[in-house]
Amino acid sequence: MAVIRSVIRGVGAHLPKRVITNADMTKIVDTSDDWIVERTGIRERHIAEEGERTSDLGVAAAKQALVRAGVDPVDIDLVICATATPDRTFPATAVTIQRALGVTKGAAFDVQAVCSGFVYALTIADNFLKSGQFKRAVVIGAETFSRILDWSDRATCVLFGDGAGAVVLEAQPQHGTREDRGILSTCIRSDGRFEELLYVDGGPGSTKTVGHLRMNGREVFRHAVQKIAGVIEETLVTTGYAADEIDLYVPHQANKRILAGVAKKLGVEPERIVVTLDRHGNTSAASVPLALNQAFEQHRLKEGNLVLMEAMGGGLTWGAVLARW
Ligand code: ACO
Repeated sequence: MAVIRSVIRGVGAHLPKRVITNADMTKIVDTSDDWIVERTGIRERHIAEEGERTSDLGVAAAKQALVRAGVDPVDIDLVICATATPDRTFPATAVTIQRALGVTKGAAFDVQAVCSGFVYALTIADNFLKSGQFKRAVVIGAETFSRILDWSDRATCVLFGDGAGAVVLEAQPQHGTREDRGILSTCIRSDGRFEELLYVDGGPGSTKTVGHLRMNGREVFRHAVQKIAGVIEETLVTTGYAADEIDLYVPHQANKRILAGVAKKLGVEPERIVVTLDRHGNTSAASVPLALNQAFEQHRLKEGNLVLMEAMGGGLTWGAVLARW
């Protein structure tokens, strides 16, 4: 039976030029390269310049994805930006990106699911495309987390970086089998009981300030492996694929120990996992599309490959998307 699938036609990314190494971090807080590398795997991160906005990073990533997709912006009718660090409280960063791209039809809005934002945004776009409401979407994950870090808190400021990634999705008729191209299965979850484990201590409706990121790292870590592995299994069950049939894992890049824990639980060899956190740190909603972009540029994505994207973040929120490239 013919069905509509959301096929990924192009991927792009953009990182700010400025790189802050772990050695640079030792001049900001009491830390060491050894501590950061051993606990997290992070060696450096990109940090936006003063005045370089989330939308600037998002626009650059989206433009690259559009060029690679061979899609004219006038043919885009949906722009979704996953971000926890919007340019302004409103309007949505997605409409700023929409304008800069020259997209004038359809709809644009932001999705706020912190580090899971891109997986959430892909899921939302997929449902709109499958329903026939929109035909072509640009889905962006863009963050300037450096703006909400407490640069005196060594337990958090060493972990994050800035950046953006984007994909172009197109609704295409497929056969309705698991061999189809495009997004085959999605699964998103949240549990607000864990709100206090990872949050920002400000906001327009509470403190009238932007606030700073606060995290109980140990507790977040405790939830991460179990919740990520669980949602991957749920995503696979829908299609009947097993973990060892996935060609490429494109995980959220929070911590090498989380990546290793999930891989061990599912029995996935390191060669099938895309890792960027050593050079990007945790870029929240940007991390999955940045990793997807790296896989594309390293020719690790071949047409027909099964690709599994996953993330977990503040909320807690978590989710996974299975797609055939
Ligand atoms: N440099 C040196 N020492 C540090 C640093 C630092 N940057 N940060 C904390 N420490 C110290 C602490 O003060 C503490 O010292 P003490 O024992 O004298 O009190 C010691 O290191 C251990 O601190 P913990 O917080 O217990 O360290 P832990 O082993 O849990 O590692 C970490 C911390 C890396 C944050 C870990 O908990 C983790 O990775 N958690 C997952 C959280 C995460 O990745 N969040 C990202 C957002 S959510 C997501 O994306 C999935």
